Amino acid sequence: MKLSNSIKALLVALPILAVAPNTFAAGAESLVLDSVHIDSRDTESLQRGAELFVTYCLSCHSAQYMRYERLANDLDISLEKLSQEMMFTTDKPGDLMIAAMPEEDAKEWFGVAPPDLTLVSRLRKNDWLYTYLRGFYLDEASPNGWNNSVFENAAMPHALYELQGSQTLVGHIEHGVEGAGDAQAEPQQGQKLVGDAIFELQKAGTLSPTEFDTAMRDLVNFLSYLAEPAQLQRRAIGPWVMGWLVILFVVSYLLKKEYWRDVH
Ligand code: HEC
Repeated sequence: MKLSNSIKALLVALPILAVAPNTFAAGAESLVLDSVHIDSRDTESLQRGAELFVTYCLSCHSAQYMRYERLANDLDISLEKLSQEMMFTTDKPGDLMIAAMPEEDAKEWFGVAPPDLTLVSRLRKNDWLYTYLRGFYLDEASPNGWNNSVFENAAMPHALYELQGSQTLVGHIEHGVEGAGDAQAEPQQGQKLVGDAIFELQKAGTLSPTEFDTAMRDLVNFLSYLAEPAQLQRRAIGPWVMGWLVILFVVSYLLKKEYWRDVH
C-alpha cells in the first residue's frame, strides 16, 4: 500500500518536473531565437566547426579547459593537420587552447575581455549561439562599427565578416508587441530573417546565406562538444549498456522461472 502511494506521487510529480524547466526558461528570455539541430555523432561537422573556431575565434577567445591533443583524438584529426593548420606555431599538441591575444590587451581594446568559450554553450544554450553568430549587422553608432540583434551593443566585432559579408538591420517582425515602430509583417525578397530581426545583405561574403547558416551550425556543434567532450564517449557506450541490460533481463527472467518452478 505504502509503495503504491509513492509510485502514485512519482507519477504526478514527473510530468510537473518535465515541464518546469521550460516554464522558467520562457520567463527569463523573451528573445526570439532560431533553433539549431546539431548532431554530436557527425564528426565531419565537428571537424569543420573546430577549423572555424581556431581560424576565427581563437585569436581573441580561449578554450582553456581543452587541449589540442584531446581535440584531435576526439574528432579524428591527424596530428599532422593539427600542428600544421590548427595550432599557433609556438604551441605543442599537449597545450591548452589559449587565445593569441593577452587578456590585458583585449580588455584595453574592447573594453571587455573576450570570455573563455569552453562552457559558453551550457551558459547561453545552442539556439542563442546560433542566432547570435548570424545576427551581426552594420551600425555606425557602435564603436567597432557592428551591433548584434540578440546581444545589443556587444563589444565583439563581426569576426566572420569575411564569410557572411555585411548586412543592415531593416526591422523586426511583429510578434504581439504593440508599438514596435519599425515592425513589418515578414521579410521581403532579398531580406533574411534571423530570430525576429530582418536583415538586408549589403555586401556578399565568400559563403552564400545558406552555406553560412550551415557553417554556423557546425560551429555551434563544436562549441557544444567543447562544453561536454564526454558526450561523444557516452553516445558510443550507450548501445552497449542497453544491450547489457537486455541480456541481464533475459537471464533474470529465466532464473526467476527456474526458482519458482518447484513452488508451483
Ligand atoms: C576580435 C576579437 C574577437 C573575436 C575574433 C571573436 N570574439 Fe567573441 N567576443 C569578443 C568580445 C570582446 C566579447 C565580449 C562582448 C561583450 O561582453 O560585450 C565577445 C563575446 C562573445 C560571446 C558572448 C559570450 C557571453 O556569453 O557573453 C560569444 C558566444 C562569442 N564571443 C563567440 C565568438 C566566436 C564563436 C568567435 C569566432 C567565430 C568569436 N567570438 C570571435 C571578441 C572577439
